Amino acid sequence: MKVLGIMGSPRRKGNTEILLDWVLAGAEASGAQVEKVIVSELRISPCREIYACLKDGNCAIKDDMQALYTKLLEADRIIFASPIFFYGITSQAKALVDRCQALWARRHVLGIIQDKGRVRKGAFISVGATKGKRLFDGSILTLKYFFEAIGAKYSYELLVRGVDNKGEIQQQPTALQDAFALGQKLVLEDS
Ligand SMILES: Cc1cc2nc3c(=O)[nH]c(=O)nc-3n(C[C@H](O)[C@H](O)[C@H](O)COP(=O)(O)O)c2cc1C
Repeated sequence: MKVLGIMGSPRRKGNTEILLDWVLAGAEASGAQVEKVIVSELRISPCREIYACLKDGNCAIKDDMQALYTKLLEADRIIFASPIFFYGITSQAKALVDRCQALWARRHVLGIIQDKGRVRKGAFISVGATKGKRLFDGSILTLKYFFEAIGAKYSYELLVRGVDNKGEIQQQPTALQDAFALGQKLVLEDS
């Protein structure tokens, strides 16, 4: 089983990456082949809305997203990790999401289904500094639609409130164990 972790924070070794690493460790301990991509280190232009993808499902912008399309389609499990920036995901992560309009076009306009018969699942993990009830609402909607567009089911989430300074997540009583357990569940649970 291939598990792909998408690290959407621009801060390396911060709260999001620490949490994601624990999820990936749980998945690896359960026998999966894991890979992590650092979005801020890739060249991913925002979508330009020229709709070249409507012709054949391919995006006209030739940057690091091209290789990522293949990874996104090959993965059995995708963990999308981003901190909350202004009640949404980071702009780096959002550029990646928007570029998946090409995969949406393949599936929903052109009827090209590249993962027929495979159960593909997605997990959203996120952190934010504040503690409001609706802190993650906007991002959850974005992620639900993202996973639907790429042919995966939004299946799990791990959302941690009240973490701000770099590495502060390590002081949260259960976050890291919860992350490891999520990685295990992602691989071991059938449906
Ligand atoms: C530009 C920016 C916008 C932010 N917006 C929010 C916000 O709307 N709500 C919130 O609770 N925290 C917000 N934060 C705080 C981050 O979510 C928080 O520091 C988080 O732990 C950062 O995770 P990281 O270490 O993985 O980058 C914001 C931080 C930045 C830099």
